[in-house]
Amino acid sequence: MYTLKTKIDTGSEEFKNNKKEFEKLLKEYRGRMQMFTRGGSKRAVDLHKKRGKLLARERINLLVDPNTPFLELSPLAAFDQYDNAFPSAGIVTGIGVIHGRETVIIANDATVKGGTYMRYTIKKHLRAQEIAMVNHLPCVYMVDSGGAFLPEQDTVFPDRDHFGRFFFNQARMSAMGLSQISIVMGSCTAGGAYVPAMSDETIIVKEQGTIFLGGPPLVKAATGEEVTAEELGGADVHTSISGVADHFAENDTHAIQICRNIFENLEQREKQTLETISPEEPLYDPEELYGIAPVDLRKIVDPREVIMRMVDGSRFQEFKARYATTVITGFAYIMGFPVGIIANYGVLFSESALKVTHFIELCTTRKIPLIFLQNITGFIVGKDFERGGIAKDGAKMVHAVSNTNVPKFTVIFGGSFGAGNYGMAGRAYDPRLLVMWPNAKISVMGGEQAATVLTTVKEDQYRARGMEPPIDEIEELRQKILAKYEREGSAYYSTSRLWDDGIIDPVDTRKFLAMGIAMSLNKKYPEQKYGVFRM
Ligand code: COA
Repeated sequence: MYTLKTKIDTGSEEFKNNKKEFEKLLKEYRGRMQMFTRGGSKRAVDLHKKRGKLLARERINLLVDPNTPFLELSPLAAFDQYDNAFPSAGIVTGIGVIHGRETVIIANDATVKGGTYMRYTIKKHLRAQEIAMVNHLPCVYMVDSGGAFLPEQDTVFPDRDHFGRFFFNQARMSAMGLSQISIVMGSCTAGGAYVPAMSDETIIVKEQGTIFLGGPPLVKAATGEEVTAEELGGADVHTSISGVADHFAENDTHAIQICRNIFENLEQREKQTLETISPEEPLYDPEELYGIAPVDLRKIVDPREVIMRMVDGSRFQEFKARYATTVITGFAYIMGFPVGIIANYGVLFSESALKVTHFIELCTTRKIPLIFLQNITGFIVGKDFERGGIAKDGAKMVHAVSNTNVPKFTVIFGGSFGAGNYGMAGRAYDPRLLVMWPNAKISVMGGEQAATVLTTVKEDQYRARGMEPPIDEIEELRQKILAKYEREGSAYYSTSRLWDDGIIDPVDTRKFLAMGIAMSLNKKYPEQKYGVFRM
């Protein structure tokens, strides 16, 4: 492999200005992260602590192996929605290491509306379970939830990907041999009661955890019976009478210790092996990415400048360096793991699509995970290109991306527009993880283009009726579309709705990818044999 050499002058005005602009975005990002990761209101947090309970993130910190990272997913879910009353959508999910094993952890945050589930809480819980299923990871549920957020029952209860899917997934994962462990640290009411009940092993905390299908008020209304929560479904009842739970814990810390002990004797499963090397830091400082990240999306960034600040020793074995130069493909190592990288350097032409297709075949045959670095306006348009068959060549790339059996990881470091998003392993193409940088933007096309399309359509309508288009109305439409695309294209709009797995600081991209690859090794990459056909 060659060591990449930068062409960027870090002392230049351009670099310094970009860095300054990016640091503003970073400050905003950190502020939002801080606001959303401290849980619910101060009053709710104080009450929670007064009850002798640990906060959701404190619980997770105790559960994972010391000095190992916790890869938190979508911490900004529900951001800027519901008056920000659901920080992180009231649930903390992510991948942590317990006794050396990558595990999906799902922890309710009871300080946010009693840990109840609104639409994004559901989506986050299901996404975490999906990650467990695809990568063959065990799951730990730290349950502390009032169940469905009742005012929004129509968005959480009846559909396929609503509350009921949790238990379906638990049953399927248990059958797949993926351990399902619950720690009941607060309430588990109604549907929520099935989370521990469907688990392989369940721990419950004394005078704190309760499990019941109907709480005391409901029992009273239904049958007239008066009963306390503890008598109805407390730790004592469930570990000595009903047998719904298996382990009695004195407090949160004790419960977490029991859970860690359970992990000592889980089944050892066969892993995928990769030809790894000793990890090495990049030659160039990853913080220089702040001066390079495309804050202004009209500026084209050579993705090699990004790659060299992300990969081991800044070494890169470029594939087809002289051909179809609007997309960069090549091999590298990230924290010792081999990877194939596909990165945009402009619009996708027919030959760019063919180059990517060829490269995906190589990585699939060699069982090398794929990294997509997205900064893409889309596929080329125009008469010559349509005649040249851009649609069928783009389709080859989409076929390859859809069918490859190696794990894919997508980082949107700039723009993600149109079918470019699809070809470059957008959310619909099942990358194992997808993250955005704070400057990133995502939409079906750029705001300017959308405004032009829609105003042209409107003008044509007027002309077809023999009228001259009114300038004011057209301009108003144009401004409305521009504002809408600006708002909806933001990385925060995306992450709030779980179109991605989170926004990350560019410096953390390497760590994030390494953790993702490590997690993907828990399932052997399926065989996929075809000859490498030249494109
Ligand atoms: N739907 C919507 N909001 C709910 C809720 C539910 N199921 N359960 C609790 N909340 C809200 C409360 O209105 C309160 O909101 P606020 O902060 O805006 O005032 C917040 O969650 C905290 O509830 P509170 O009762 O003050 O906290 P707590 O810690 O003492 O108790 C619960 C939490 C979850 C144990 C308790 O609220 C409860 O039992 N809720 C009903 C659970 C239920 O029957 N669910 C059925 C689901 S199918």
